[in-house]
Order: sequence, then C-alpha cells, then structure tokens
Amino acid sequence: MKLLVIGGGGREHALAWRLAASPRVQKVFVAPGNAGTACEPGLSNVPLTDIDTLAAFAARERVHFTVVGPEAPLAAGIVDAFRAAGVRIFGPTRAAARLESSKEFAKRFMQRHGIPTAGFETFADAAAAHAWVDAHPGPLVVKADGLAAGKGVVVAAGSEEAHAAVDAMMVEARMGEAGGRVVIEERLEGEEASFIVAADTRNALALATSQDHKRLRDGDLGPNTGGMGAVSPAAVVTPEVHARVMREVIAPALAGMAEEGTPYQGFLYAGLMIDPAGSPKVLEFNCRLGDPETQPIMMRLKSDLVELIEAAIEGRLDTCEAAWDRRVALGVVLAAAGYPDAPRKGDAIEGLPAASDDCHVFHAGTREDEGRIVTSGGRVLCVTALGDNVRIARARAYEVVERIRFEGMQLRSDIGQRALNARKP
Ligand code: AMP
Ligand code: GLY
Repeated sequence: MKLLVIGGGGREHALAWRLAASPRVQKVFVAPGNAGTACEPGLSNVPLTDIDTLAAFAARERVHFTVVGPEAPLAAGIVDAFRAAGVRIFGPTRAAARLESSKEFAKRFMQRHGIPTAGFETFADAAAAHAWVDAHPGPLVVKADGLAAGKGVVVAAGSEEAHAAVDAMMVEARMGEAGGRVVIEERLEGEEASFIVAADTRNALALATSQDHKRLRDGDLGPNTGGMGAVSPAAVVTPEVHARVMREVIAPALAGMAEEGTPYQGFLYAGLMIDPAGSPKVLEFNCRLGDPETQPIMMRLKSDLVELIEAAIEGRLDTCEAAWDRRVALGVVLAAAGYPDAPRKGDAIEGLPAASDDCHVFHAGTREDEGRIVTSGGRVLCVTALGDNVRIARARAYEVVERIRFEGMQLRSDIGQRALNARKP
C-alpha cells in the first residue's frame, strides 16, 4: 500500500520512517518533505502543499490513508477537504482543531468540561488586559490566542514583563493576527510532560509519554522555541499520574468534543504541568503530534503504526495495544543560527552519519543544494538515540551530535537533565 504524510519537519520524517517500516507498506509519500525524507529508503517527496491538489494526488495514487503532521493544514480544514473528496485521512476536522488553533476556545472548553487548567481571562482590548494585570500581582503568563508556532507565549517574571507582552501582542501586533486576542493566566509550578494519544472519537490509545525542552538555552533559559530536544518516557508520569490524565483530561476531552458536535479523531496532545502531589493541569492542547517529541516516541514504537492508524480511522482503537521499547529515547535538536527569531538559511551541513540501530538523525529544516545538504529552516536536525537509561541514551545522542557541523549551529547540551534529576531519590 501507499501512504501520504503531510509536512516537512522532523516529526514528519520520524512518522514517515516508522510507517515505512510496516511490512504492508510499499511507499510513503511526504509532502513536501525535506532532504532527510528524500534520502530515506521507502520514502518519496512530493512538492505539493495546496490542500485540493494534495487530495487529488492521494486519490490518483490510491493512497491507503494520509496522516497530517503540522497544525496549519488541520486548522485550514485539510481533513474536511479530504473527506469531501472521498479520500481517507487521519486527523481532526477544522472545527475539532480549534482545541489548538484558538487558545480561548480551548480554555473555555476545559472550563465547560471540568478539565483541570490554570485560571484565566481573555481579552480583545489592550486597556482591559493592562487593568487585569495590575489587579493580579502574582506570576502570570500571557498567550496570543491564535497559532504562533510555539512562540506566542510569555511567562512573565513580573507585572512589568506582562504589560510589555500585552503591548507586543496587542498594540505592536508582533504575532500578527494571532495576538489580536490574548489569554492571560496564572502561572503554574511543577514538572511538564507531553501526553499524546491517538483518538478515534470515542477511544484513546496513549502513546509513550515524553518531555520537551522548550527554552532555547541550557538550564531552561532564553526564549521559548518549538522545542530543543525531548526524552521518552517522562519520569514524572508515573502509572498513577498516567491513570489520572486518562481519566481527568483525555476522557472528558473526547466526550466533550463529541457532545459539542465536533467529535475528535486524530492525535491529541495534552501539554501538562504536574504538581508535586501528582495532579495534572493542562497547559495547552495540540491537535497533532509534538515536534520534537515524535522523534523519540517513534524510536520506541514497536507495534505496526499502520495497524494503529487504520484502527483509529475505523473507530476500533479499543481493540488495540501499542508495544514500546523499554529503553529510553532522547533527541537533541540542532537549530540554525538566529533561531527562533530569524533563522539563517543555506549553511552547508557536514558530518551526517549513516543510520544505525540505536541512533537516527531526523531532518527538519534541510534541503538539497547541488549535491550538498544545507539548512533551510529554524530547527534543522534532531539526533535521536536509544539507550538503557537516560544517561546512556544521552551519551549516544551527543556522540553523534559531536560530528555534525554547520555554521552558527545552536543546541542545548543538557537535554535529559531534568529527567536525570527527577530520577534521583
Ligand atoms: P503553551 O504553548 O501554552 O504550551 O506554552 C508554552 C510554554 O510556556 C509551556 O510549555 C510552559 O513551559 C509555559 N507555560 C504556558 N502556560 C503556563 C502556565 N500557566 N504556567 C507556567 N508555565 C506555562
Ligand atoms: N514540542 C511542542 C509542540 O510540538 O508543540
């Protein structure tokens, strides 16, 4: 069978690579893909991004099903368009994708369905937002309502920073339209984890847990990014916490979406803050897999991903179980000079290793240029390794990272450190 993966980042490289490992798969098309998916056995890039053209391509090639990586095509209604054209696709409709595409919708949805989340208020008017910040002297977080590629959130150190964030988003419109409305919420304390499930509108199958590293620099300093590295599993998600998340977050989310007439099919990502007592609160929902979380998660998946997605599309996830490699997987992102504000493109990448069983270099912002592989986006590569524990997986990933070079390469040297600290008695 042939499959189609939409997107061109590290998440899509990992997803397509794992799908291609299924004995039932002849070819995985990746649209538009990157230099990594161009070279990967079993994958083939397709230079298309327009939704209707993609649906026509999937129909013509008799693609068995399509999986969507990024949020933008989901928010633009790619699932609705494919279904209207009669081609199979796994993902939420445009209406269901509002769980990610509007933070205000997501917060009010959580409120309506009793899903634990930080207290909040929303604003369309900067003066009202400023007045609210003045009335709430505690630590606050200011978020642009719309999609801002993980960069529309300011965790304010004090009121002055919260005021500045309101002005940047609402007055100077630095996030464009996404910042026309803002959500301001209380700042939560605890340990973060990424909890991703595959959902078939009624049932959810949890994927392996993971932990992202959102800040640009070591020690969780610097600006928020799309994610500079990830580790799976997340030590903070104990079996008890896992059960609570399924019961208190995932089940009411699926029931709530169905009840509101927008049943949720697709990957659903809950970004969680887990307090010292093990109570989870939702920081955000994403209507897709995480990037870079998918890279370590796919390294650990032992089941046939084609079977799982097929079961999800057909509404029989309650009959499925996923098997995971017991080892830890850890991914280190190599980002371009200038990321996240203004990533530089066109730098030649040297020292890419051949694939091995315990380490895979997933490509993101890369393209081929006259036989060389050059940078073409903010996050360039994600070097992902397996090991018997965090320390071993980390050593293996950084051993490969050491050999890769490009001008201005940025990376964190402490991916997995929080997991190591958490494991200490
Ligand atoms: P979001 O895109 O909403 O997940 O926010 C991005 C990052 O900002 C999160 O991963 C957290 O590190 C941080 N963050 C967001 N909301 C809060 C909050 N209420 N309290 C503390 N940190 C937060
Ligand atoms: N790594 C965070 C995200 O995919 O949203």
